[in-house]
Amino acid sequence: MKNVKDIGSAELIIDDKVFNFSLIEGSMGEKAVDLSTLRRETGLVTYDVGLVNSGIAASDITFVDGEKGILLYRGYKVEDLALNCMFLEVAYLLIFKKLPTVDERKYFSKLMNLNSMIHEDIKNFFSTYPEHAHPMAILSAMVVSLSSFYPEISDDTHKEPFLHTVTMLLSKMRTIAAFSYKKSIGQPFVYPSYKYRYCENFLNMMFASPVDDYQIDPVLERALNTFLILHADHEQNCSTTVVRTVGSSGANLYASVSAGICALWGPLHGGANQAVIEMLEEIYKGGMKPQEAIELAKRKNSKMRLMGFGHRIYKTYDPRAKIAKSTCETLLKHLKKNNDPLLDIAMELEERALRDPYFQDRNLYPNVDFFTGVAYRAMGIPTNMFTVIFAIGRLPGWIAHWLEMKTDPDQKLMRPRQIYAGEPLRDFVPVEKR
Ligand code: CMC
Repeated sequence: MKNVKDIGSAELIIDDKVFNFSLIEGSMGEKAVDLSTLRRETGLVTYDVGLVNSGIAASDITFVDGEKGILLYRGYKVEDLALNCMFLEVAYLLIFKKLPTVDERKYFSKLMNLNSMIHEDIKNFFSTYPEHAHPMAILSAMVVSLSSFYPEISDDTHKEPFLHTVTMLLSKMRTIAAFSYKKSIGQPFVYPSYKYRYCENFLNMMFASPVDDYQIDPVLERALNTFLILHADHEQNCSTTVVRTVGSSGANLYASVSAGICALWGPLHGGANQAVIEMLEEIYKGGMKPQEAIELAKRKNSKMRLMGFGHRIYKTYDPRAKIAKSTCETLLKHLKKNNDPLLDIAMELEERALRDPYFQDRNLYPNVDFFTGVAYRAMGIPTNMFTVIFAIGRLPGWIAHWLEMKTDPDQKLMRPRQIYAGEPLRDFVPVEKR
């Protein structure tokens, strides 16, 4: 196993029989028991619902310390990257393990431009969707379709061919996302342009129209760039695990990413940014006080949760949420929208929840989705596009994990076990006797 030290062994005693398993340690001191031979040696499997305690890979992409609130991409602090990098540099870092040189950056951008259009026939797909179609559904379907439109996409993981496969996906997915928005509002598609940078291009495709030139606001571009960097990877989250799982069967990168998009859509994962705004709107329109919403979220038999709060890994303030909050504040001030009632509700919810023993005892803090939704709304992005933006941001992480999985000599087909709890063996009953 790469970069993992053997630091001793752990004993498991079953019916007086002693079994030894290696204790291993990762490069940032994370310790684990290596149970890869458990079933072979003992006949037992582990029971770990939600894989809460299971490491499914030795990965060198992203490090998260949920207790201390640390997030590193390839060893760099997310705060430094968000402040100093363009999103594409971070994408390059995640996928190719190093920040690009000036020449590497130029080449990467050139390939991004060359690959930015989508096949004209793909546009026909958009017309077959009903107007209320969720853009996440369109995005997932279109991404898997790309692999049939571009047979030159290969599974060759050598740098040059993979650069082409990757830039095609990164660039075309942004175009598809913007087109799905234009479709939903019945406007003509705006094509990507070589003259814009990555985020500028996305904003232009979303907001320009044939009758109205759109002036790209550098503050919006900077904010979007920051949010995409914050979303770029988060180790074995639900959608990334799905990408690795689908890819482990030998499915191509595009098919694996398409599955990841579906996993991200759920409100407990990337769909939370949409759910946050829906919750704030419900509170506002229903004339509810923030404290009433908090009380409802705390009630055991209530279905309501405080969306944008809590995280499986973070037991302190999510470092991404801190950056998202200050970026959101700068943006709202710039757009003169800091008197938005939903923002006031969000701020009051945060303040009250952080002081509330229920949230304190369970270590529930705002996560990255709490503030991004408010910011996207202020930027004029419709609610159903929020998770699409998360997907665009998470794409480099999915690609990096797919590549790591594909090139790892220890990789196996993902195939967990279960504890069967159904009917024991029983006799078949013919239909007339049932
Ligand atoms: N509001 C109210 N109570 C909560 C919340 C919340 N947002 N989150 C967790 N709890 C309570 C939960 O009811 C449980 O209480 P008890 O111990 O009394 O039964 C306790 O906290 C532990 O919760 P859990 O569901 O066992 O924790 P988990 O690690 O399985 O869930 C989570 C993590 C993110 C699914 C959950 O916190 C949640 O549903 N949050 C709201 C949705 C959300 O914001 N998701 C975005 C996650 S960050 C972006 C991403 O990575 O996708």
